[in-house]
Amino acid sequence: MDQLLVALDVESGARAVELADSLRGLVGGFKIGSRLFTAEGPSVVRRLADEGDRVFLDLKFHDIPNTVATAVSAATSLGAWMVNVHASGGLSMMQAAAEAGHRTAAAEGRPAPLLIAVTVLTSMNLETLASVGVQGKMEDQVARLAGLAQQAGLDGVVASPQETAFIRRQCGARFAVVTPGIRGGAAAAAKNDQERTMTAGEAIAAGASFIVVGRPIIGAPDPREAARRIAEEIRAVTSR
Ligand code: C5P
Repeated sequence: MDQLLVALDVESGARAVELADSLRGLVGGFKIGSRLFTAEGPSVVRRLADEGDRVFLDLKFHDIPNTVATAVSAATSLGAWMVNVHASGGLSMMQAAAEAGHRTAAAEGRPAPLLIAVTVLTSMNLETLASVGVQGKMEDQVARLAGLAQQAGLDGVVASPQETAFIRRQCGARFAVVTPGIRGGAAAAAKNDQERTMTAGEAIAAGASFIVVGRPIIGAPDPREAARRIAEEIRAVTSR
């Protein structure tokens, strides 16, 4: 199931590789975030990429344009399939990132990674947004940053399930929307710290290009069976 990405939010590279080995073929790729990357370094990304896995390197770069561009180049050389940056880093930072990904990929004869922007972290609310100086509605800020990402030539954004439909409407069919916060339906698990959730089927129906699922799969007694059920739920929506 190409649209299902599994967040390998585990403590060690060995556990991440073990999970990937058991889920390969059933899911569309694996997300490696800052915890695993900081603990284990790039070897786990290289290892999965060498297996042919699609690796979403979720390090949310946010720095001056040159630094982000060189980080995206490094991620491209590592074999990442998808990488992300914070849209609030601005237009020139995102343009530099996109250009660097394409340039490095062309020089190395590999596909450029999909470059995805984070708009507003889903852990933020109106109050925390105002506390960092952003007044107004959450939806307006998300729409503004998604528009900026599109203008910079990025491939898509990360969006909460509630934002997926309006971003899809605003940015069109070719813009990728990557949606975490999946709970309920086949993703039966405690909500954990996720608040505004949707089922996998609902998120895909709302226009998500990819969904990211962590604990409902990696914390399940049988991760393979959990992934299979979620894949089935997605298939039921896409084959309608
Ligand atoms: O375990 P769970 O399914 O909640 O994992 C979701 C994954 O997506 C985690 O790796 C989390 O860090 C990430 N994520 C998120 N919300 C965002 C962006 C990323 O939950 N807005």
